[in-house]
Amino acid sequence: MTEHELRVSKIQDGTVIDHIPGGQALNVLAILGIDGSGGEEVSVGMNVPSNRLGRKDVVKVEGRELSGEEVDVLSLIAPRATINIIREFSVEEKLRVSRPERVSGILSCPNANCITTKGEPVESTFEVLSDGVRCAYCDTIIREDFAAHISVS
Ligand code: CTP
Ligand code: ZN
Repeated sequence: MTEHELRVSKIQDGTVIDHIPGGQALNVLAILGIDGSGGEEVSVGMNVPSNRLGRKDVVKVEGRELSGEEVDVLSLIAPRATINIIREFSVEEKLRVSRPERVSGILSCPNANCITTKGEPVESTFEVLSDGVRCAYCDTIIREDFAAHISVS
């Protein structure tokens, strides 16, 4: 896209999460715990054309620099996402998400008998495998459609 076709404005300071698979932007925001109630200035582009992905989503958060740990859990739904840290309108850092060893408090266990789903004050924790995630409490494995198991708490 050329400059005058830019669909979502550039931001001054903050984080741009780019190359999100088309349709996953709202799940990215849910994982990051951003729902607008915190007053963050957020722009979302959905299903915009991309050379690499065909269609992609883009999320831009003004005024917040997201850390590697914060964004690594995005690797579950957006393994090819690029994290751009923006300062004074320029890209200061460009990071790829990497797979974390475990993910806590983001996904909810599909097992109704799991201690993490019974109303106890136990935070969900999943170990990240090469082809899915495994509940640290009951060993239930989630292999696909992580988005369906995101618990927005
Ligand atoms: N961006 C932005 N505000 C800025 C600078 C960049 O919103 N002040 C966005 C761009 O629109 C783009 C992303 O940040 O979506 C990365 O910018 P840049 O590295 O300039 O673009 P590309 O070279 O296309 O990135 P890549 O090589 O990662 O595809
Ligand atoms: Zn479990």
